Amino acid sequence: MSPIVIEAVDLAHQFDYPLYSDVSFTLNEAQSMAVVGRSGSGKSTLLHTLSTFLRPNAGTAKLFGQDIYMQKSDEVTKLRRYDMGIIFQAHYLFKGMSGRENIAIASLLANEVIDTTLLEQLEIENVIDQKIGDLSGGQQQRVSIARVLSKHPRVIFADEPTGNLDSETALLVMQVLLDYIHSTKAALFLVTHDDNIAKLCDKNYRLEEQTLSLVKENIF
Ligand SMILES: Nc1ncnc2c1ncn2[C@@H]1O[C@H](COP(=O)(O)OP(=O)(O)OP(=O)(O)O)[C@@H](O)[C@H]1O
Ligand SMILES: [Mg+2]
Repeated sequence: MSPIVIEAVDLAHQFDYPLYSDVSFTLNEAQSMAVVGRSGSGKSTLLHTLSTFLRPNAGTAKLFGQDIYMQKSDEVTKLRRYDMGIIFQAHYLFKGMSGRENIAIASLLANEVIDTTLLEQLEIENVIDQKIGDLSGGQQQRVSIARVLSKHPRVIFADEPTGNLDSETALLVMQVLLDYIHSTKAALFLVTHDDNIAKLCDKNYRLEEQTLSLVKENIF
């Protein structure tokens, strides 16, 4: 079995009401997992905990074998900059800049060059020099995905990465993400409302009644 990238052990969280408890799973290199569940069930909260941004009420979240909430802040900063890629539900692009400039910043911070084939695969090579504000929602979403992959992360957290896209473009984006993890042995943790998108991942989980359950696992 390939090395474990994400390990959750008995994670629990609540804000105004309990969201989930006893959440445990592992995700290996080159594997993808999707979490589906109703709005408000806590999917984004779980993603924020696994990606170093929200300390859990209980349990342990590990990345690459390290408990992320026990690490020093400079270690966490390094992890975020070099190893993690996050596609947020709201894609925080710099509005006054072009797509190319947005991607260049991420590449510069992680000492990587912009991958032009990625822009072609995502079908944004023709709009990459326009200001972000002039792009459609779906084009902006694809720029944010190109920005994340240009860093060459070892783990990707994607919160509704296809939420703004028509079904054809959504499939194209999923293909790019899955090709990326297979060719680089990265791991993909994805949150979606779309069962057709979830099915493309190796493991499918549902967050329901405060429990994360495995619905389906593709064994290759
Ligand atoms: N920082 C916060 N402070 C207080 N409550 C929060 C915070 N973040 C999330 N919540 C609450 O936790 C609940 C779960 O939110 P979360 O964003 O995880 O849901 P979700 O499953 O991702 O929903 P959606 O599918 O709509 O994106 C919501 O009721 C939300 O208001
Ligand atoms: Mg959410």
